[in-house]
Amino acid sequence: MKIAIMAGDGIGPEVVGQALKVLRLVAPQAETEEAPVGQAGIDARGKPLPDETLALARRVDAILFGSVGVADEASIPRERRPGTGLLQLREALTLYANFRPAFMFPELIGASTLKPEVVDGLDLVILRELNGDVYFGKPRGFETNEKGERVGFNTMRYSESEVERIAHAAFRAARKRRRKVCSVDKANVLETMQLWREVMTRVGREYPDVELSHLFIDAASMSLMRNPKQFDVIVTGNMFGDILSDAAAMLTGSIGMLPSASLGVDRKGLYEPVHGSAPDIAGQDVANPLAAILSLAMMLRESFELEDKARQVENAVRTVLAQGYRTGDIYQPGTRRVGTTEMGDAVVQALRAAA
Ligand code: NAD
Ligand code: IPM
Ligand code: MN
Repeated sequence: MKIAIMAGDGIGPEVVGQALKVLRLVAPQAETEEAPVGQAGIDARGKPLPDETLALARRVDAILFGSVGVADEASIPRERRPGTGLLQLREALTLYANFRPAFMFPELIGASTLKPEVVDGLDLVILRELNGDVYFGKPRGFETNEKGERVGFNTMRYSESEVERIAHAAFRAARKRRRKVCSVDKANVLETMQLWREVMTRVGREYPDVELSHLFIDAASMSLMRNPKQFDVIVTGNMFGDILSDAAAMLTGSIGMLPSASLGVDRKGLYEPVHGSAPDIAGQDVANPLAAILSLAMMLRESFELEDKARQVENAVRTVLAQGYRTGDIYQPGTRRVGTTEMGDAVVQALRAAA
């Protein structure tokens, strides 16, 4: 088990630190090596994805990633933006399938902004395509128009083979769940998405045991708030998946609860919380580390086929929630407010107690 640790920026190192404590306990044999990425990569090596970091990523079986980003980064040129390091890593390793499960822990029902009956029992996964779309499409850039104004432009693109591989990933995932796929697009307006829907429908015929439905992104956003329990697997493009998954996070109480796995052509995966570097709370030991810890559980399951260990970690998270431990983002009166480190320690304690 060779694992690269890329803690990144802001709360990244704080939450990854807790996941590492859990890893040491459940898989002491794992070999880990740290590497800088994001602003940490720029500070150490002048690039958001230093060559040494990419070389390490290629050597290991799995990557545990924290988060990258600094406050006010919109004006920074792309090659020096922290998030570019993460995008380059996803592209270089062809991590095209980004699984973002949203699961309702019963203890957190009151922490959701939605009514309990709407979210009780919620269990869906957003499968976000991660290598294409307007994120990577060319041409892109800035130009000057005939009026002398600056114009920014990007291109939304998907090839048939890109849609095919994410479609197969969605149907395969649905077979392990409730056999329902909802493909989310904007086929009523965009050619890219017309192609997306055609290919989804075609691939869907190879999985007659899986029910396929389609929604436009605007209506899907509404349905996700109105009746999220109707969904099993939601498959969508890079941009819509980015947005929908943050929305889905809120159904579960906090973005600090949502893990993710980015997988490619082999078992190598990158595992990271869905949240970002949260500059507003960084360095205060208040961030919720459970998304990072649940991302580690996904790693144990997907990259190392350690289903038992993954379950143990997930059960330990359930236990600490039942015991009343809450970071600020999921705090409710009557529960016990703890910091990042204390939450990590509680999970370790729960694992020890269950052993
Ligand atoms: P964010 O996810 O960092 O934060 C959004 C809000 O959620 C903030 O109020 C933050 O305090 C809160 N939050 C996030 N994670 C939390 C946690 N674990 N516990 C408690 N509260 C938490 O999104 P943002 O503010 O839009 O972006 C900040 C930076 O992070 C930007 O530079 C952005 O590009 C980057 N970002 C990186 C990733 C990634 O590394 N995968 C993902 C999203 C955003
Ligand atoms: C995410 C983030 C990234 C994305 C940024 C930081 C590049 O928001 O992982 O969800 O947009 O993919
Ligand atoms: Mn995002």
